[in-house]
Amino acid sequence: MLDDASRFVRTVQLLRERITEPDRHPFTVPAIEHLEALDLHPQVTFFVGENGSGKSTLLEGIAVAAGFNAEGGTKNFRFATSREEHPLQSCLRLVRGTTREATGFFLRAESFFNVASEMDKLDAEPAPAPPIKDSYGGRSLHEQSHGESFLALVNHRFGEHGLYLLDEPEAALSPQRQLALLVAIDRLARFEDSQFVIATHSPILLAYPHSRRYAFSTEGITTVTYEETEHYRLTRDFLVNTERYLARLLPETPPEPAPKRRRRR
Ligand SMILES: Nc1ncnc2c1ncn2[C@@H]1O[C@H](COP(=O)(O)OP(=O)(O)O)[C@@H](O)[C@H]1O
Ligand SMILES: [Mg+2]
Repeated sequence: MLDDASRFVRTVQLLRERITEPDRHPFTVPAIEHLEALDLHPQVTFFVGENGSGKSTLLEGIAVAAGFNAEGGTKNFRFATSREEHPLQSCLRLVRGTTREATGFFLRAESFFNVASEMDKLDAEPAPAPPIKDSYGGRSLHEQSHGESFLALVNHRFGEHGLYLLDEPEAALSPQRQLALLVAIDRLARFEDSQFVIATHSPILLAYPHSRRYAFSTEGITTVTYEETEHYRLTRDFLVNTERYLARLLPETPPEPAPKRRRRR
């Protein structure tokens, strides 16, 4: 097993002097605006925070800086659509460990479908190598449910010395499968020298102990403990006080209609 100091990405730095358009997205997102340097955990780093707080934006920036396609997939995937350079590509610097990752995957919540299509397309072309889908359980990812295909991907394609960037991987997974994912992450991170950065809302995944948790907010990015995350607190409170929450949230009588907005001219 590698020594922790040699995991692949130690720190993510924002090179402010390279920003040409500070008043435009993504530099106006508070998490990016206030970013200087973010130290990643050698095993698992979590990004947690409200919708729109910038988790996906930073994860995508790290992905392009690490050499992944902004659309997702492995580093070998090149989608036909040519894209302009990602605005964070030249502004984010990754401070590397002593070794490079041997493999990796960038899972974008929105583009898993594209990745599945790209693999099907590659498999349809004559090639000296065995079909990619063999390493995904032998079936096209399109022929499996989203949850099944994602776990097939993790179990058949994720391997040792990998850098894995996952955006809300829990989206398609039942609670039972989230536990299965936790087991897979632990195997890869602790025993197969892989490193993960995971944006998530899952209180199950967030419990993973060999990790650092970064909370994204309008103030920027801060470290938090598991118990400090709103995801842990709110889920726990809701499960313990379900009746009370429901009584407060769901009124007996129809709510007052929202005041009509005046049309702007
Ligand atoms: N391509 C884009 N152009 C302009 N604004 C964007 C773009 N993508 C995301 N945003 C905005 O940037 C902010 C952060 O988005 P995002 O990183 O997706 O948040 P999160 O993943 O934390 O939910 C949001 O306010 C979102 O509306
Ligand atoms: Mg997101």
